[in-house]
Amino acid sequence: MDIHVTLQGRGDLTGRIYRQLFDAVLDRRLRPGDRLPATRELARRLDVSRNTVSLAYERLVAEGVFTSRVGAGTFVSSQVVGQARTRRAPEGHRIRVRPLWKAITEPPPVRASTPVYDFSVGSPDAALFPFTVWRRLVARELRPGTLDWSRYGDPSGHAALRTAIVRHIGISRSVRASADDVIVTQGAQQALDLIGRVVLHQGETVAVEEPGYPPARMLFRTLGARVVSVPVDGEGLVVSAIPKTARLIYVTPSHQFPLGTPMSLSRRAMLLAWAEERNALVIEDDYDSEFRFQGRPLDPLQSLDNSGRVIYVGSFSKIMLPALRIGFLVAPASLRGPFRMAKQLMDWHGELPTQAALARYIDEGLLSRHIRKVAREYATRHATISETIARHFSEWLQLIPSGAGLHVAAHTVPGRSIDLTQVVRRAEASGVLVRTLSNFSSGSVAPDGIVFGYGALATERIEEGLKLLRRCFRPR
Ligand SMILES: Cc1ncc(COP(=O)(O)O)c(C=O)c1O
Repeated sequence: MDIHVTLQGRGDLTGRIYRQLFDAVLDRRLRPGDRLPATRELARRLDVSRNTVSLAYERLVAEGVFTSRVGAGTFVSSQVVGQARTRRAPEGHRIRVRPLWKAITEPPPVRASTPVYDFSVGSPDAALFPFTVWRRLVARELRPGTLDWSRYGDPSGHAALRTAIVRHIGISRSVRASADDVIVTQGAQQALDLIGRVVLHQGETVAVEEPGYPPARMLFRTLGARVVSVPVDGEGLVVSAIPKTARLIYVTPSHQFPLGTPMSLSRRAMLLAWAEERNALVIEDDYDSEFRFQGRPLDPLQSLDNSGRVIYVGSFSKIMLPALRIGFLVAPASLRGPFRMAKQLMDWHGELPTQAALARYIDEGLLSRHIRKVAREYATRHATISETIARHFSEWLQLIPSGAGLHVAAHTVPGRSIDLTQVVRRAEASGVLVRTLSNFSSGSVAPDGIVFGYGALATERIEEGLKLLRRCFRPR
């Protein structure tokens, strides 16, 4: 890559070039072994004589910063040690950040290595991903003529993918929609962002589940909403506890996040009636319902809704991979236009080759086959973890019945006082990663417990990990 050099600064031209190259080495923008542009080339770019550049190089060679090899060129010496420098605003000139960002905890750095027994919530098993087929499909798209490559696409996303999604959710979830109602997003998270930006006024109330999905709660706060936590019981969100001012209600009815219970049919009807009466909108986050192991599926809010108040949100993070960043929303007709416009202003559209590959994956029937295959595997893991918790952890934990998704949760046995933070800490020291329910609570009175993700761990590993975890409840 060409190093950026200008003629700015003081002193003679050679001195200016010398200083900038020297600084680049000190800053480690140029690293030991990097090759410098030929003097003739740099002189041409700067419109100075070749001699001016050569003198700067010779000085740096004489000082041992550069080495010159006849016939090969000039390089940064292997002995020089620079240090990446960061710029700080001078005291008193701090750059101001909107105060609401100060109230948000920064995400921890992504772990360089995965824990040996990773029960973290929301991760699918990458070993089950069809890498070979996916590579073929993406390679097929990455050729001249498959897309109108030099132009931007539709902000709603690749048309073939929107059609494929509508067929997929129409059959598997009875969601009623046309391709024009769908906006393809970078994961469900961007769908939530899009909805918040389009419908929320500053200070308006958003009701979220308690315990619930922290990225949704935090996102709505950063959009300037007043976020109110509403308790969840055995039937789902307690509709009678929704604040009267709520404009937007975010729920996970198929598989409550993180408790795992489905929202009952009567509660669904109550929620829709509430929203209609108060002119509120409901976000139905259906992030992992493709994996169902027990119990009958219930109709999604979207298909029960007769007044266009439900925005259905889906994600391919669990059935494919989170790294692909593909999700979508299904908009009521009145919101289609504003959503398209907002999407265009946010990022125009996601990555089209990936979207086109996914469209083919769905159209060729491969997605349905993949879901059937991995659901069998996850069903075994779900059964293993549920049985082990019921059998070997009953002294401390009470499993919350759940027949879908990639995680289960368990409350601490009523009346038992257990320091779960200590348990989790001890588990981490043994290579076992689990989260407490309090990690998903906004800090009010929710009872504590543990959430077990089983997506990323093969069955034998689940058994080993739980054995280790059991010891952490009863340390010697
Ligand atoms: C409640 C909930 N919604 C949505 C998602 C998926 O988010 P995304 O599609 O942005 O990866 C997850 C993932 O863990 C989730 O737990």
